[in-house]
Amino acid sequence: MADSKLSGTTTIIVLGASGDLAKKKTYPALFGLYRNGFLPEGTSIIGYSRTKLNSTEFHARITGHMKILNDEIKNQLSEFLKLCTYVSGQYDKDEDYQKLDKAVEKAESLNIHEERNRVFYMALPPSVFVPVAKGLKKNVYSKKGINRLIVEKPFGMDLESSRELGRALAPLWKEEETYRIDHYLGKEMVKNLLIIRFANVFFGAIWNRQSIANVQITFKEKIGTEGRGGYFDEFGIIRDVMQNHLLQILSIFAMERPLSLSAEDVRDEKVRVLRCIPPVKLEDSILGQYTRSEDDDSKIGYLEDKTVPAGSTCPTFAACTLWVNNERWEGVPFILKCGKALNEQKTKIRVQFQDVPGNVFKDAPRNELVIRVQPNEAVYMKMTNKLPGLSMDTVISELDLSYNRRFSDLKIPDAYEALILDVLKGDHSNFVRDDELDAAWKIFTPLLHKIDNEKIAPQPYAYGTRGPPGIEEFVSKYGFKRP
Ligand code: NDP
Ligand code: BG6
Repeated sequence: MADSKLSGTTTIIVLGASGDLAKKKTYPALFGLYRNGFLPEGTSIIGYSRTKLNSTEFHARITGHMKILNDEIKNQLSEFLKLCTYVSGQYDKDEDYQKLDKAVEKAESLNIHEERNRVFYMALPPSVFVPVAKGLKKNVYSKKGINRLIVEKPFGMDLESSRELGRALAPLWKEEETYRIDHYLGKEMVKNLLIIRFANVFFGAIWNRQSIANVQITFKEKIGTEGRGGYFDEFGIIRDVMQNHLLQILSIFAMERPLSLSAEDVRDEKVRVLRCIPPVKLEDSILGQYTRSEDDDSKIGYLEDKTVPAGSTCPTFAACTLWVNNERWEGVPFILKCGKALNEQKTKIRVQFQDVPGNVFKDAPRNELVIRVQPNEAVYMKMTNKLPGLSMDTVISELDLSYNRRFSDLKIPDAYEALILDVLKGDHSNFVRDDELDAAWKIFTPLLHKIDNEKIAPQPYAYGTRGPPGIEEFVSKYGFKRP
């Protein structure tokens, strides 16, 4: 039952509905699902948080980030808002949760179905995850249907705190009721990785240490931590992006073929490959922190942000090389790189193949496969080709599958839309399992403790650049050859 598609009456309860994530992602995703007819019939959506908001104020807040391009969407939005109500209350008071429960019952009573399902979306800071999970279980849990709990990252600060959080939640919510979101698993190109790898015979044949020299998984953002420094400084870029989003990409890239596409078979393989990765060493890492922009001086440095504690050594950039010690990957460096306040906004996987042995075409560069996750999704292969003409000169060219050309008439769904739909369907494949989380923390915890305890100084890099000056040397140390 717990992993089945929801039917009957469904109520989605958004905890932390006054917040940033609810406004930017959760409600726009719910509206996207509503417009495309993916919300179960008779769905109600109830927001809950402490801020007192009347219905007009609440609706204004949750629609601020929605794109209303024409009258049709405007009309759909006014219908959607009829489903969205709001209740204010504290996170630690039974009587407030009982008030919420009454509101859910009232919404449910408008439907004739016997089955009453409840999906709880915790768009809340981690400090309140446990009291809220407790309050919901005690006071708002449906006794007449399926209950599901969506939990946002971060899941802890390190292995121990993640286990502690797990121990606190486990007696309340079963693993099959819990959906830990890593929104990168909802991105189109991350989902495509399984298909690229396992539905193409030519990729299957070269996906190994014999053919691949190195893999780089890169996340770059142009903006700094502007105003979010308080949150960010506690976590740093490794916890914010690398330990979750980039490691998830790596695990799908490197795992063995799952027995089937069932959630447990896929996640079994992801866990298995993560267990082959030893903890990252400081020697295999480079850390950076951005300073004021060089050219026009228009962007302030991380330490000048008023929300950042003075003298912080928190990294805003990190590159770490991971090794997968198994038969397929031994000796292949997986270089994970991520940073804020860089020269561009881009997430991509770049696979560099080995040199052609005994190549008669001197200096021919290596083949590469690039999977661009965002923006402008694409898969392209860099290959050496004859330069057209009378000579035998070579040129690097691309076999290019750019989505905006090939699939221009298809809409790529937002990651949150895809993931909330998975929750409604009871599909756990794109959510993080408890043992997967544990394996991920084991890889990064020793390094994170070293960085925190020894206050390892990050290398400065100017806002808007490619990162710390040592980065080129760092990647070439692992055999990456720039074409
Ligand atoms: P917010 O800081 O906006 O918090 C959400 C709501 O929680 C607030 O509106 C507030 O509501 C309540 N709240 C805030 N601080 C506290 C506190 N100290 N104690 C109790 N309640 C508090 O967070 P976000 O919406 O940005 O993030 C929510 C979750 O989603 C976090 O776990 C975050 O890491 C994760 N996330 C966020 C992303 C984003 O883009 N924002 C992206 C990916 C993940 P009220 O005061 O009305 O109760
Ligand atoms: C979040 C991080 O998980 O992912 C943010 O907390 C980061 O710091 C964001 O900006 C990036 O998500 P996306 O989908 O914009 O690449």
